[in-house]
Amino acid sequence: MTGSTDRVLVIGSSGQIGTELVQRLREIYGNDHVIASDLRAPIVSEGPFEQLDVLNRQALIDIVQKHKITQIYLLAAVLSATGEKNPMFAWDLNMNSLLYVLELAKEEKIRVYWPSSIAAFGSNTPKNNTPQHTIMEPGTVYGFSKLAGERWCEYYHQKFGVDVRSLRYPGLIGWKSAPGGGTTDYAVHIFHEALEKGSYTSFLSAETRLPMMYMSDAIDATIGIMEAPAEKVKIRSSYNLAGFSFTPDELAAEIRTFIPNFEISYAPDFRQAIADSWPASIDDSPARADWGWMPNYDLRKMTEEMLVNLRSMKALVK
Ligand code: NAD
Ligand code: SER
Repeated sequence: MTGSTDRVLVIGSSGQIGTELVQRLREIYGNDHVIASDLRAPIVSEGPFEQLDVLNRQALIDIVQKHKITQIYLLAAVLSATGEKNPMFAWDLNMNSLLYVLELAKEEKIRVYWPSSIAAFGSNTPKNNTPQHTIMEPGTVYGFSKLAGERWCEYYHQKFGVDVRSLRYPGLIGWKSAPGGGTTDYAVHIFHEALEKGSYTSFLSAETRLPMMYMSDAIDATIGIMEAPAEKVKIRSSYNLAGFSFTPDELAAEIRTFIPNFEISYAPDFRQAIADSWPASIDDSPARADWGWMPNYDLRKMTEEMLVNLRSMKALVK
């Protein structure tokens, strides 16, 4: 369980998830107990920040020792679409960052959170209600790195007792930060362009159904699994995690209930093949049964919150 003595390091804190996760962790642990770290400066800075290249192993060790870190959230990664443009770099960052953190966790008895993804599945995986344990033959370098990472997490837990916990996130949608180069990014861009232009051209086709989640639920799940008693975390590779699934066409229809004149058009690009290889919906019953996971948002509630919050944010910066 968490305590006031915990000191948390978030690596990749300036990204889409890190920006929101750091805020929530600081509400729980206090600003000074949560150290943000990234190559890039944070968007909001309300607590300690260390500039870190996680591939600089000695710099990572120095920061962990300096701040007496007891938990690491490792978020630095190259995502699916960007990874296909530079496969060797994606493999290097995604794998070596995890191995450095797992080694350090073994030595220093640190609890680790590392996210996997629906990208760990592939085109031979059952597409609907994808089970926890199934065929996994990913078709992207990002997906290989997530599947291999899952195996390393389970290995370090079984061989060395490392307390590592992981979730296979679906596509994440939030208004506080921009997405970082994934195949599901359209589902964030569409809201910005709906408000700014009243129209959007989707890089995925109208009928492409993917599993998605509102960021607030993803942060709840992340902190939920990290705070769960160790004996309840029975899967040490990575848990399936589901929110809701939709197509670009269905999302556009939902946006139209708030912005009636909103128009969508379609120009699928290389990301279409990636999306086609991923599940359409996910069975997350083991996460629900083992440590009590339960989402709060559906498509309607997420759409309303995105539009209300983005509208206020855009009005403020005008
Ligand atoms: P992001 O691209 O928005 O953020 C990643 C952050 O890592 C960036 O701020 C970047 O500057 C930083 N970074 C990159 N290289 C670094 C390095 N060498 N040292 C330190 N920092 C470095 O990504 P995100 O969407 O926040 O994703 C975080 C994690 O969650 C990743 O592992 C990603 O695979 C996983 N994930 C995300 C989603 C999603 O929809 N966002 C879905 C599934 C899994
Ligand atoms: N949202 C992520 C991506 O599209 C899934 O891991 O890359």
